[in-house]
Amino acid sequence: MASNEAAEVKEEEEEEEREDATMAKLGSYGGEVRLVVDGEESAAEEIMLLWGIQQPTLSKPNSFVSQSSLKLSIDSCGHSLSILQSPSSLGTPGVTGSVMWDSGIVLGKFLEHSVDSGMLVLQGKKIVELGSGCGLVGCIAALLGGEVILTDLPDRLRLLRKNIEANMKQFCLRGSVTATELIWGDDADPELVKPMPDYVLGSDVVYSEGAVEDLLETLGQLCGPNTTIFLAGELRNDAILEYFLEAAMNKFRIGRIDQNLWHPDYRSNRVVLYVLVKK
Ligand SMILES: C[S@@+](CC[C@H](N)C(=O)[O-])C[C@H]1O[C@@H](n2cnc3c(N)ncnc32)[C@H](O)[C@@H]1O
Repeated sequence: MASNEAAEVKEEEEEEEREDATMAKLGSYGGEVRLVVDGEESAAEEIMLLWGIQQPTLSKPNSFVSQSSLKLSIDSCGHSLSILQSPSSLGTPGVTGSVMWDSGIVLGKFLEHSVDSGMLVLQGKKIVELGSGCGLVGCIAALLGGEVILTDLPDRLRLLRKNIEANMKQFCLRGSVTATELIWGDDADPELVKPMPDYVLGSDVVYSEGAVEDLLETLGQLCGPNTTIFLAGELRNDAILEYFLEAAMNKFRIGRIDQNLWHPDYRSNRVVLYVLVKK
């Protein structure tokens, strides 16, 4: 082998080794995830990488949702779900969960795909969802056999409960589903933490720098040594996501789930999916 060819092979092998070193399984998820390795600049590097690879601004926002409709229909777990939305409430300051967001669809379908492909077991597991909004993600988790508690701000529970009623009552559920109030940063009710959840879910919950500290406080309260957190985020604001990652790294090990592990029909360059476990 010519010396430059040998050098190329060595370089490729070293690159593969570097790749392997950053891939690992985290928590109860069976897929290998890309570790966001601790370090002073690592949150900034993650953001540069994400925006560089996915170029989110070049993709269409709201690919899987129509936020002006009163109803969003989606098939999941062999059922046809019909999620009620309240587009007019979106204009009210502070109200964001009255319509669905792409990251919620991506996370719900990711859970379904992961269970179907044997990467995840939700049957009989205690699952808490944060900032449930219209409730699709938690409903899918319940269809997959989870004992799910959906949570949101007090004035958001009406729509959430309507959607649970409209979608879950008609099915012979493998799991269970309820909704309760949880304001990030407040002490979580005993029903949420005793016992600690097996899984905590959140989609599009990192969108305001002011809420990051409270959100992390709540994630810390809900996360025991055997809890796995899945967070799906919208790539709209690099500064807020970087701020979240930087702060989250103090308490959690973080891995990014590559798109090839998502549901094949629900992939978007404007969405990112992380798994977190307590350090
Ligand atoms: C952008 S919406 C996402 C809704 C839903 N997860 C989805 O993906 O469609 C953010 C959700 O977080 C909730 N939220 C915001 N701040 C909160 C807080 N301090 N405590 C609890 N929930 C909060 C909102 O009410 C809203 O339902």
